[in-house]
Amino acid sequence: MEAPAAQGPAEPSGHSSGPSADVEITVTSPEQMRELGRRLAKLLRAGDLVMLSGELGAGKTTLTRGLGEGLGVRGAVTSPTFVIARVHPSLGDGPPLVHVDAYRLSGGLDEMEDLDLDVSLPDSVIVVEWGEGKVEELTEDRLRVRIDRAVGDTTDEVRHVTVTGLGERWATADVSVLAG
Ligand SMILES: Nc1ncnc2c1ncn2[C@@H]1O[C@H](COP(=O)(O)OP(=O)(O)O)[C@@H](O)[C@H]1O
Ligand SMILES: [Mg+2]
Repeated sequence: MEAPAAQGPAEPSGHSSGPSADVEITVTSPEQMRELGRRLAKLLRAGDLVMLSGELGAGKTTLTRGLGEGLGVRGAVTSPTFVIARVHPSLGDGPPLVHVDAYRLSGGLDEMEDLDLDVSLPDSVIVVEWGEGKVEELTEDRLRVRIDRAVGDTTDEVRHVTVTGLGERWATADVSVLAG
């Protein structure tokens, strides 16, 4: 049994100015997932890393599609199953979107650098599906997005999305706007 925490809560009650808390969003259709991606795009800038987790069919690529729309990049975002990464250049003067499917990336970041993406990662928005344990060394600052289906459900379109900002970049960013 652990001893109870001494001296009350670590943070003052009410609003914390520390790392942003998890934001939970319930999405009830693929279109809403896309819309969430479009909203997410407004929070992103060059150098940002977004890590998407969730089982096959959770909606990671669907979310990324909306993100690409929100960023205004060229080319349809599709499931990059047969390529590890795809670069979508901006149609305007924004950052390109680098969409990575790390599922078959075994060697972590080294392998990714070997891909010769012809784009500077620090100048891009990078979205990685299945990247856990593989791409964290890119930056300490990352936005983690976990997508869960309702338990035991295979037909429903309800998804629970949990967004967590990590590192200094996200300590002050207001991720809660995503829930609105
Ligand atoms: N709420 C939802 N959000 C996202 N996708 C959904 C949702 N409900 C049903 N779907 C369907 O689930 C599938 C998700 O596929 P995809 O985005 O490729 O998932 P992943 O990249 O996580 O494997 C799509 O066929 C989509 O139409
Ligand atoms: Mg996918």
